[in-house]
Amino acid sequence: MFEVKEYSGNKVKDYEMLLKQLEALIEDESDEIALLSNVSALLNQFLGKINWVGFYIWKNDELVLGPFQGLPACTRIAYGKGVCGTAYKEEKTIRVSDVSKFPGHIVCDAASQSEIVIPIFVNGEGYGVLDIDSPILDRFDDVDQTYLEKFVHIVENRLAQ
Ligand code: SME
Repeated sequence: MFEVKEYSGNKVKDYEMLLKQLEALIEDESDEIALLSNVSALLNQFLGKINWVGFYIWKNDELVLGPFQGLPACTRIAYGKGVCGTAYKEEKTIRVSDVSKFPGHIVCDAASQSEIVIPIFVNGEGYGVLDIDSPILDRFDDVDQTYLEKFVHIVENRLAQ
């Protein structure tokens, strides 16, 4: 059974605890859908002020919607399109403090105002992206980016096994 932890309010400490929770959550599961579903649920209960968190997975030359938490979303994103397609193409995290100012941003939930997208690599190949949306402007800072990238590295290592 998953135990909901009391987070301390200290962002760095809480992220450190999240990484431990992640490792425990995924150590015994190798099925991609089961694993990524639980990972999106873990992030959804941990992160405040977000309205969407989930995965897009690279399949047949496009990003296809994977496990997520939030409102129904667009199912396919082309290479280089939107924040997700751009992060995948450029192979780097993209943090958007105001999505209305990002050229080509794809609106899935009209409530979203800021967004972070982290590319995922498995065995050196682009696997997909982790996408997180917030209903407030400038929700994600350097600490979020650093720890969400560490979070994704743990998921990448699990998927590579
Ligand atoms: N805003 C994203 C699309 C995905 S949704 O936010 C869930 C983008 O511009 O790629």
